[in-house]
Amino acid sequence: SIKPLAAKLNSRLVVVSNRGSCTFVDSPQGIKAVPSVSGLVSAVEPVVSQEGGTWVAWGGRCGREGEFAGISVPMPENGQKYVFQEVLLTPEEVTLYYEGFNNGCLWPLCHNFVEKSVFNEEEWQAYRKVNEKYAAVLFKCAGPRDLFWVHDYHLAILPAYIRRQRPYSRVSLFWHIPFPPAEIFAVMPWAEEMLKGMLEAELIGFHSRKYVRNFLHSAEEIAGAEVDYSNETVYWSGRQLKAVAAPIGINWLDFEKLAGEGEVVRKAAQIRQEAGGEYLLLGVDRLDYTKGILERLRAIEWLLENYPQYRNRLTFLQIAVPSRTGTAAYQRLKRRIEEAVGRINGKYTENYRVPVKYLFRSLSKPDLVAHYLAADMALVTPLKDGLNLVAKEYVASNAGDVGVLLLSPFAGAAGQLKEALTANPYNPREMAARIVQGLEMPVAEKKRRLAALSKVIREQDIHWWWRKVRQSWFGDAARGKVAVSP
Ligand code: G6P
Repeated sequence: SIKPLAAKLNSRLVVVSNRGSCTFVDSPQGIKAVPSVSGLVSAVEPVVSQEGGTWVAWGGRCGREGEFAGISVPMPENGQKYVFQEVLLTPEEVTLYYEGFNNGCLWPLCHNFVEKSVFNEEEWQAYRKVNEKYAAVLFKCAGPRDLFWVHDYHLAILPAYIRRQRPYSRVSLFWHIPFPPAEIFAVMPWAEEMLKGMLEAELIGFHSRKYVRNFLHSAEEIAGAEVDYSNETVYWSGRQLKAVAAPIGINWLDFEKLAGEGEVVRKAAQIRQEAGGEYLLLGVDRLDYTKGILERLRAIEWLLENYPQYRNRLTFLQIAVPSRTGTAAYQRLKRRIEEAVGRINGKYTENYRVPVKYLFRSLSKPDLVAHYLAADMALVTPLKDGLNLVAKEYVASNAGDVGVLLLSPFAGAAGQLKEALTANPYNPREMAARIVQGLEMPVAEKKRRLAALSKVIREQDIHWWWRKVRQSWFGDAARGKVAVSP
């Protein structure tokens, strides 16, 4: 029989992250749960739903100073698979820890945008305090045998706070964004303390070998730990930490199934017809400067300028999902994107047919798949990205059909998706040439490439990912069938 990992080990899984599967909103009718949009959430949710246990996360609501734990809700709401344990942050912590340290310092730093990183001692202290607060919530809701699976940069030093009170806990960390080269990480004034906090975990996962290598170098050079590069293991303070490259996958069957639903297929045909023209190019991203949306628009502009035969024949549809809308850098970027869309459309609209369409909203999953199905080509061209799930979702939605994926070499997924076309997002000329190559590609080549991409994405799906993580974490004890089944 298929047994969840935690049950095999006679313990419970406790997933810990900053953002959880939903955000709670206070309304006159009571507390409403709204699903969250994030790469981490789409990846971890299927695993927790199947494994059961507890998910400890900030639910977007604020509490007073000294108030730590919020509500405990069975999820999904119509039947318990896991319990969502809400963590409450004070408004000041939201500003200093979330918007300040996480979004203003760690996020740009890990994506190699050093000049955008703000180093502020008060924000760092708030970050430490919130990590300690999370530990306090964990001790309230988890037993000594429970397995702590901590996610992402928001909670990098939580392993240290867990160990302080429970030295023998089983703690693993997964880092969902890039881990930068050591000389970039070292710029952060608290790099050593942060690394030492991370080194208290027993396993750390990354999306690619490059990030593993960068992390190992940092552990050696910045934290002074002993590193065995052949086993990807760090020895520090009498403990050992194993690093593993485990690129996250998607729930393949979900996308395949949705792409075959009549309603979704009809919607795709409608999108296609309304877009007009012969070719539909698609971009789907959170509105974030790491995603290269402006650079992509420049490539479209270059294409329309230098390949006039495509004018009036192609439509580029950019879906920008609202994200971190309270932050000035994101508001500025939104204005610049809107200016660029206006400029290109002002120049290249013919017979009132605009070449660039732009939506600033999030889409439901069926709607998203309909857009994937409708597009001849997906432009996934981030300047830097931990992995990028859109690339995988586009392929899964079009498997068995045609469709071209243009992928940035700076997305973590590029290491796995070798049959995609690639272009440097900083080079509009190259990107335009690759788009044209994709549009003119013979059908047989499109099919061959898509089939090869599908094979990897299907094999290395979300279940594969969790299997890899749990085997790296527990070795033999975790072998056998995985709990996360379709
Ligand atoms: C992206 C990254 C995740 C990260 C999340 C944070 O989705 O892939 O690793 O946790 O951003 O976004 P948030 O909206 O919570 O700031």
